[in-house]
Amino acid sequence: MKKNIRLKKPADSEVTMTEIVFSHDTNPMGIIQGGRIIQLMDIACAICAQNHSNKIAVTASIDQVSFNSPARLGDILTIKAKITRVFTTSMEIHAQVWTKRLPDMKSVLTNEAYFIFVVLGNDGRPIQIVPLKPITVTEKAQYAAALKRKQMRQTQLH
Ligand SMILES: CC(C)(COP(=O)(O)OP(=O)(O)OC[C@H]1O[C@@H](n2cnc3c(N)ncnc32)[C@H](O)[C@@H]1OP(=O)(O)O)[C@@H](O)C(=O)NCCC(=O)NCCS
Repeated sequence: MKKNIRLKKPADSEVTMTEIVFSHDTNPMGIIQGGRIIQLMDIACAICAQNHSNKIAVTASIDQVSFNSPARLGDILTIKAKITRVFTTSMEIHAQVWTKRLPDMKSVLTNEAYFIFVVLGNDGRPIQIVPLKPITVTEKAQYAAALKRKQMRQTQLH
């Protein structure tokens, strides 16, 4: 009998976190430190990976990190994480940081990155992940592009 595999949609595990930039996050010019931005994206992606897999997942790589414009002391950050594609034991997650500040509170895309998370079993070894079914046009485009990014990473690793 054929096994019934339950596919999950990207929206099922999507994460949105909100933060405010405090003085301990910034450099002497009042701009948020790059490492803090990456940490926030990593946390959102880790939650997203766990939402999808119901297991512990670890960061295997981070690439295409962009710092388009600075976030500053007091700015409100919205950190979004969404799975683009599940491979076998790894998944690619797209992270974005949207920043808004007074007086107009207009949201600006300040940062982006792609994270690879690997799901681990109880023995600490990588295990197979529930497949992902992209639904929207954007999700389908990201799903296709994710395979090219994986191939690019593999050529860079070897
Ligand atoms: C990530 C890790 C579990 C991979 O273990 P491994 O024994 O190398 O596993 P494998 O070679 O079998 O690869 C497993 C998957 O990870 C992917 N992978 C491994 N290293 C990778 C890297 N550097 N970049 C992108 N993907 C990677 C492989 O492509 C494979 O994906 P697939 O099964 O979907 O095709 C291991 O390297 C590790 O524990 N790293 C430290 C993680 C960590 O400490 N993170 C920070 C704290 S969360």
